Amino acid sequence: MIKPFLSTMLTLLCFIGLNQGYTQSSTQDIALSFFEPLPHVMQGAEQDTSALINLGKKLYFETALSINHSQSCNSCHNLNNDAAGVDHLKVSIGALGSIGERNAPTTWNAGLHVAQFWDGRAKTLAQQAKFPIFNVKEMALTSESQVIERLNSKGYLADFNSGFPQQLSPINLENIAQALAAFQRTLISKDRFDDYLAGDKDAISQSEKAGLRVFIDKGCVACHNGAVIGGQLFMKMGIVHPYPNKIDKGKAQVTGNPADNYFFKVPSLRNILNTAPYFHDGAAATIEQAIEDTGWHQLGIKLNEQEVKSIKIFFKTLNNQKRI
Ligand code: HEC
Ligand code: HEC
Repeated sequence: MIKPFLSTMLTLLCFIGLNQGYTQSSTQDIALSFFEPLPHVMQGAEQDTSALINLGKKLYFETALSINHSQSCNSCHNLNNDAAGVDHLKVSIGALGSIGERNAPTTWNAGLHVAQFWDGRAKTLAQQAKFPIFNVKEMALTSESQVIERLNSKGYLADFNSGFPQQLSPINLENIAQALAAFQRTLISKDRFDDYLAGDKDAISQSEKAGLRVFIDKGCVACHNGAVIGGQLFMKMGIVHPYPNKIDKGKAQVTGNPADNYFFKVPSLRNILNTAPYFHDGAAATIEQAIEDTGWHQLGIKLNEQEVKSIKIFFKTLNNQKRI
């Protein structure tokens, strides 16, 4: 995993080296070689009907999905009032007050990632949705029949009948997961960087373009690339300089393979200024800290204050303007 990565990095750095002298007008072309605009429709959404999406949305805000009716998906992935799909806690707190192990990633654009969770243990949004409902440190329900009973008693049958018109008894865990996934497939963000990638050269300012160039030239794009600026690969946290928190072994906890120790999904950087704190353990309270730390741990460089500031200015172009 690491060797091919390093050779990709070298190729990339040579490429960047050759392009050090690139002109203003070609910044956009360089950007398009690493990034792409967000799709208008998420893969898998082709069959999603508005009835199914509406059911999924209702379920996303449904507190009956937690043991003491205190928590919905939205408690940890807040979408109310323009929120960014996170809880802003270092690590999440469950319905019964248990302190979780990881920082909650945003649900915006999650369906565009290669897999779900920091360690990728769920392949799809539908697979993912079944985990929190029964996780004792999250919503803490105990059985599928309990979920079905609760939704029945809250009058969900009509909603499920509309969402799954062909089925005789549609209230079941699989359909709950499918509906939640359908709703989350609508969560594609919209920002000025996307307008820029789509051809509007003036969508981002000169100082934002300068920040974009720092982000590219320093090599951040080796891992943070594509449509969501991340989300496509798993990388070791601390590839150059070890990460101090050794408790969470990331992907190795799923595969049992020591070669996967401390590998985490490279997070998306879309809307990143609005999702603090950062990292799987929420250890970086500010974006400045997160930029400095990744420079050091992932690239082995000490970014100066100006470079950090410049990257942060570029990140402003990633602020989500879409609402649910
Ligand atoms: C108690 C807080 C909490 C609740 C409630 C909760 N989540 Fe999460 N969610 C998290 C945390 C923490 C993670 C990361 C866990 C990990 O990676 O191991 C996560 C991960 C995710 C991811 C993966 C995102 C990514 O980028 O990998 C999705 C999607 C998601 N949750 C959706 C949901 C849905 C849908 C519900 C409701 C059924 C829900 N969550 C309920 C805290 C919560
Ligand atoms: C070798 C791959 C790699 C490179 C290069 C890299 N990153 Fe990352 N980045 C990651 C991984 C993996 C994480 C998640 C680490 C964790 O949570 O433990 C991450 C996390 C982040 C986060 C926090 C995101 C969140 O939601 O918590 C930010 C911000 C970030 N990187 C910015 C940058 C910047 C800026 C650069 C260039 C200076 C950079 N990264 C270079 C792999 C990389």
